[in-house]
Amino acid sequence: MSRWLGFEGKTVFVMGGTSGINLGIAEAFAEQGANLMVASRSQEKVDAAVEKLAAFGHQAFGFSADARDVEAIEAGLKSQAEHFESIDVMIVGQAGNFPAPALAMSANAFKSVVDIDLLGTFNTVKAASPYFAKGDMRLIAISAPQSILPMPMQAHVCAAKAGVDMLTRVLAMELGHQGVRCNGIIPGPIDDTEGMARLAPSEEAREHCRRSVPLERLGTKRDIANCAMFLASPLADYISGAIIPVDGGWSLGGAALAALGAGR
Ligand code: NAP
Ligand code: COA
Repeated sequence: MSRWLGFEGKTVFVMGGTSGINLGIAEAFAEQGANLMVASRSQEKVDAAVEKLAAFGHQAFGFSADARDVEAIEAGLKSQAEHFESIDVMIVGQAGNFPAPALAMSANAFKSVVDIDLLGTFNTVKAASPYFAKGDMRLIAISAPQSILPMPMQAHVCAAKAGVDMLTRVLAMELGHQGVRCNGIIPGPIDDTEGMARLAPSEEAREHCRRSVPLERLGTKRDIANCAMFLASPLADYISGAIIPVDGGWSLGGAALAALGAGR
């Protein structure tokens, strides 16, 4: 892809950007000439991601912090301040997930996921806000289908991600006058990710999932990165407060398609 999206020399911060979909997004921006800052809990994962991102030939740096701890994020950002002046694009994608029936979960299990996904998104935005590029800043929250579709075994994730979507919309309203565009992406089932490994661990479950997607394939990390780049680019200059499913049509009613198989 030629570099016409205008990310050269821009600073892109990805919370939870050390593996899976979020690292895929970070790599896509690095490929487009952006400088990348990534953060997550594990310093080892941060180091490995920074090494991978640096290979694109631009600045790559990062810090370890738990998104549940706003002071740790503030300290982490401060520790990297020599590498950047402001943040032009921010992706907030950290998440926790495990399948469990609602009432079989401990209160702490439910709280852990809500804190990582929802409070963690608030904390990251709050801590990074002093660094927002003046007049032209793009924030993208990574949501999940659970924010719009109730799913058994996913009460914690459904509640947390619905909150993430609503937080994104409120921020779009509150920050628009400062030139901050806030949008969300709802990835569908994305191949070769921790999320899929946890929710569709068997080949049979994966195949069922594939058959429930109208486009008849699982998504790729690049599918999600492409939408993130679009939302962060001037092509989306008038888009704010949108939460966009990137799921091959899966959220239209994948279960019905898998069961009835219309037209197949
Ligand atoms: P993943 O590889 O497990 O990525 C999660 C990232 O968040 C990792 O970098 C992890 O690194 C970090 N993280 C977890 N807890 C954290 C915390 N408390 N503080 C800071 N960082 C934390 O998962 P993935 O499957 O690619 O999912 C990425 C995003 O896409 C998530 O928001 C998920 O909800 C969404 N999504 C995924 C799918 C899918 O099919 N996989 C579908 C829909 C939506 P550390 O372990 O180092 O903290
Ligand atoms: N079923 C039920 N409860 C579970 C569980 C499961 N499979 N896994 C963890 N829990 C509970 C724990 O028992 C604990 O509750 P307790 O204190 O009442 O015993 C609570 O959840 C917190 O667990 P802990 O391991 O201390 O949390 P953590 O902060 O270290 O890790 C998780 C958070 C549990 C979400 C962990 O899976 C994680 O780090 N996930 C990140 C990666 C990920 O989920 N990627 C996919 C994104 S879609």
